[in-house]
Amino acid sequence: MRNRFEGRVAIVTGGARGQGEQIVRTLSREGCSVVVGDVLDDEGKALAGDLGKSVVYTRLDVTDQADWADAVALATSTFGGLDILVNNAGIYRRQLLEDETVADLDKVLDVNLHGPFLGIQAVIPAMRARNGGSIVNVSSLAGTTSYPAHGAYSMSKWALRGLTRTAAIELAPSNIRVNAVLPGNIRTSMSPTTAAADAPTGLKRQADPQETANVVVFLASDDASFVNGTDVIADGGSVLG
Ligand SMILES: NC(=O)c1ccc[n+]([C@@H]2O[C@H](COP(=O)([O-])OP(=O)(O)OC[C@H]3O[C@@H](n4cnc5c(N)ncnc54)[C@H](O)[C@@H]3O)[C@@H](O)[C@H]2O)c1
Repeated sequence: MRNRFEGRVAIVTGGARGQGEQIVRTLSREGCSVVVGDVLDDEGKALAGDLGKSVVYTRLDVTDQADWADAVALATSTFGGLDILVNNAGIYRRQLLEDETVADLDKVLDVNLHGPFLGIQAVIPAMRARNGGSIVNVSSLAGTTSYPAHGAYSMSKWALRGLTRTAAIELAPSNIRVNAVLPGNIRTSMSPTTAAADAPTGLKRQADPQETANVVVFLASDDASFVNGTDVIADGGSVLG
């Protein structure tokens, strides 16, 4: 097994379950200390308990600026600094545009877009103190196209790519890389097996969350040291039909 993250410290949002959990487990297996941030306290604590002292859970509602400050302070006080941020937390809902409300649209944008924005702002000083870092934003294939009734979700995931590029160009002088991963259909609570029919892929199956977590972890690692400001699609080849 490789130890790509020995001495490194990460914050993973939405890390209590699904793809986020696999990102946490993979980073931890490879020597990373991890702060798991989520609003699912029981699941988050159970995961941290399972992985030992190098993984801690904290309640981190990504829409809350004070929670972000606390999470960064926790990473620094517990593990000595911060090198990696994975903006993985997200929510998903379906609604036709003609039935959408501003209030419900705002809920999606708050978590999926404002959350990563607040996170990036919060981690910059700590990453600069380490002379660099890596930020990975989890967008979606819905950030390259859209599907019926995916307006709010799609808007949030397209905009997250814009945030990724802006952050990448502004933070490159600080040696902080910022990239986006655009998964296709992953088998998690967000997208149960039956949803596979909505997005048939070239490989004709959903992704196991570990398969997309691997892509996120690659971008977080020094293996991706010259990858910056880009989108990595992991969708099993959906353009192949
Ligand atoms: N499942 C898919 O098919 C799919 C496809 C493309 C992209 N994605 C993206 O992958 C990411 C992970 O999703 P998943 O499939 O593991 O779904 P999931 O619902 O299992 O996990 C999402 C996690 O985000 C957390 N979360 C929600 N709101 C939060 C908030 N305000 N603050 C902190 N945490 C919050 C949830 O509690 C949960 O742990 C999301 O950004 C999602 O949009 C998923």
